[in-house]
Amino acid sequence: MTALAPAPVMTAADLAAELGALLAPASVLRRNEPLAKRTTLRVGGPAELYVEPADEAELAQVLRFCHEHDVSFFLLGRGSNLLIRDGGIRGIVIHLGAPAFSHIEVDGEQLRCGAGAKLKDIALTAKRHSLGGLEFLEGIPGNLGGALRMNAGAMNGWTFEAVESLRFMDYTGVAHERAARDVETTYRSCPLLKSAVALGAVLQGRPAPREQIEAKLAECQQRRWTSQPKEPSAGCIFKNTKAAPAGKLVDELGLKGTRVGGAVVSGIHGNFIINDGTATARDVLALIEVIRTAARAARGIELETEVEIVGED
Ligand code: EPU
Repeated sequence: MTALAPAPVMTAADLAAELGALLAPASVLRRNEPLAKRTTLRVGGPAELYVEPADEAELAQVLRFCHEHDVSFFLLGRGSNLLIRDGGIRGIVIHLGAPAFSHIEVDGEQLRCGAGAKLKDIALTAKRHSLGGLEFLEGIPGNLGGALRMNAGAMNGWTFEAVESLRFMDYTGVAHERAARDVETTYRSCPLLKSAVALGAVLQGRPAPREQIEAKLAECQQRRWTSQPKEPSAGCIFKNTKAAPAGKLVDELGLKGTRVGGAVVSGIHGNFIINDGTATARDVLALIEVIRTAARAARGIELETEVEIVGED
């Protein structure tokens, strides 16, 4: 994402025509693409322009185009930690959905994976090759690019724990590879990927008996199914705080079941807001504020959203 605003002289139609002329036919370019269906929460407006570059060279074209024309862009992963406002996203939404970005290649104890690879597929490929240490990825409903960007975690593991090296493209379209030890990461963040696009990573597995990996996968699945809701959601809405896990706090405040329009605080886990099928982004945002206000008033705790909130009202 860039903070740059679109140049006022270029309309979406102009942008589409110019960019379309640069891209190969194998790349996808659409105007007014609905995005709600591309997020797990299922709310939000459309993308002004939506692009699926066919490969890295095409992605470089798109990034250079945005750079040269001062057009803002947003990288859409699997949309599992994302809240798009009802007015949609201006500028260009890029999705690395093409097969060129979703490879998973096993080489000894390492897996070289593209940013578009699903975390579940990575965990299952590792299992097939008797490589452990990546079981926790199975339950995160995203792709590798998003998980790298937010250093996603579950079941006491987090993404960068397993990363050996990172490939990324800067906003001028140049690709780089960097050892993970040289990449700064924190709880739920990889600052480098706030101004670069993740292309993929080499993940390090640990040889382990297949039955042991299967048992760990089953344990992760079981814990998730019993402690997290199945309805559409964006995963955990808030980051955990030093004082308490956000879900526990919401629970203690008696906010489970609280509703704004079609958005409801899950009765199963307090840090999930679920969409009953009729929610708008505005409902979810209003419910987030209800929770933040209550946490502040009752416990003096400032809850910070974990979910990424983007787009126009
Ligand atoms: N708890 C309650 N009530 C609730 C929810 C939780 O009392 O309604 C208590 C639990 O009993 C537990 C503690 O709070 O003692 C923590 O809950 P949990 O074990 O469910 O973990 P969490 O900290 O809420 C984190 C991640 C999840 C990840 C799970 C499982 C964050 C913000 N969340 O949740 O990640 O799936 O661990 O490993 O760090 C996400 O990132 O979107 C996400 C869902």
